[in-house]
Amino acid sequence: MLMSIREARPSDFAAVDEVEQEAFGDHGTLVVNLIHALRPVGSERGGLELVAEDDDGRVVGHVLFSAGLLDAPSRLVPVQVLSPIAVSPDRQGMGIGKQLITHGAQILGARRVPAIFLEGDPGFYSRVGFVQAGDRGFRKPSLRIPDEAFQLLPLPAFEPWMSGTLVYADPFWTLDAVGLR
Ligand SMILES: CC(C)(COP(=O)(O)OP(=O)(O)OC[C@H]1O[C@@H](n2cnc3c(N)ncnc32)[C@H](O)[C@@H]1OP(=O)(O)O)[C@@H](O)C(=O)NCCC(=O)NCCS
Repeated sequence: MLMSIREARPSDFAAVDEVEQEAFGDHGTLVVNLIHALRPVGSERGGLELVAEDDDGRVVGHVLFSAGLLDAPSRLVPVQVLSPIAVSPDRQGMGIGKQLITHGAQILGARRVPAIFLEGDPGFYSRVGFVQAGDRGFRKPSLRIPDEAFQLLPLPAFEPWMSGTLVYADPFWTLDAVGLR
């Protein structure tokens, strides 16, 4: 099966909602609302939204990167936060999630973004280069995020002085979409 990764267009948005809703099941509505709220943040502050499209033109995967801040000792550092990512249930386990992330990391790295942060399953994200952020001295945005879930992928523009607390964009808080309850 041929598959391409490309930037999402407004004409993809309905299909994106469907993929996310299907992949996240009971949490699907919250995730879709989060995407809708994060998109404007992304377009103003250097975010990135990618879709995976199969050779029939069907959107089978999606990832959103949006702006966050690292509250470092000397200044605030703009970083990106990966959330959410989803692959259609009938296409999971075929490498699509991995390709969405590596493609996104290449684009953000070329834009001199220093790091991508996220909260998620280290079983999956460690396979694409994410490491535990707490171990590297970073502080998570909420105590409700398990230590092992708080991860980062340093990109080529990362510098050793860039440490501190990750601050999420407003939609994560207004939608209460941070950590576990
Ligand atoms: C998580 C998700 C995006 C992964 O996408 P995917 O296309 O199925 O993953 P890939 O096929 O690219 O998997 C890449 C690697 O991670 C492994 N992997 C995938 N999901 C994993 C998991 N939950 N735990 C451990 N390993 C996992 C795969 O075995 C593969 O390993 P390999 O490189 O050794 O072959 C997808 O399963 C999904 O949409 N899940 C539901 C929504 C979700 O949970 N999103 C993430 C929230 S944090």
